[in-house]
Amino acid sequence: MHLLVLNGPNLNRLGTRETDIYGLRSLEDLALGLRNAFPEVEIEFAQHNSEGALIDALHNADALMTQGVVFNPGAYGHTSIALRDAIAAMETPVVEVHISNVYAREGFRQTMLLSPVCAGVITGFGMGGYHLAVQYLKDHTGSKPRG
Ligand code: DQA
Repeated sequence: MHLLVLNGPNLNRLGTRETDIYGLRSLEDLALGLRNAFPEVEIEFAQHNSEGALIDALHNADALMTQGVVFNPGAYGHTSIALRDAIAAMETPVVEVHISNVYAREGFRQTMLLSPVCAGVITGFGMGGYHLAVQYLKDHTGSKPRG
């Protein structure tokens, strides 16, 4: 099984960025942790700060028949109609993950433009959210439930 773990803007700075909110673990720590926890899954990691590069990564994942995408869109989750349109057009299921509990934060973070077109959303469980998302995709490969 092949999955993509895709991270959006500013998440390359995990481990040093607002550590009271996002913790001390880096993206490299996340990759190591996921590879250790799911040795049977081929997990590709990517991080982009720009919206266009994230859209290209989603298009590629769909074209290459990646079986699932775990996506932390960062702040674009609250703003990007273009990313929402990209996900809505995909066959590959996308699980949206946020490290922090966006519903416990500022009001502008509670606009979730991508969530309605994702298979599900995990928010507030720290890095553990990525593990839950990979587990879900392992258990439910197939078409993306919408609603
Ligand atoms: C985030 C939450 C977003 O609101 C924020 O802009 C981020 C990180 C999270 O993982 O908690 O960059 O996606």
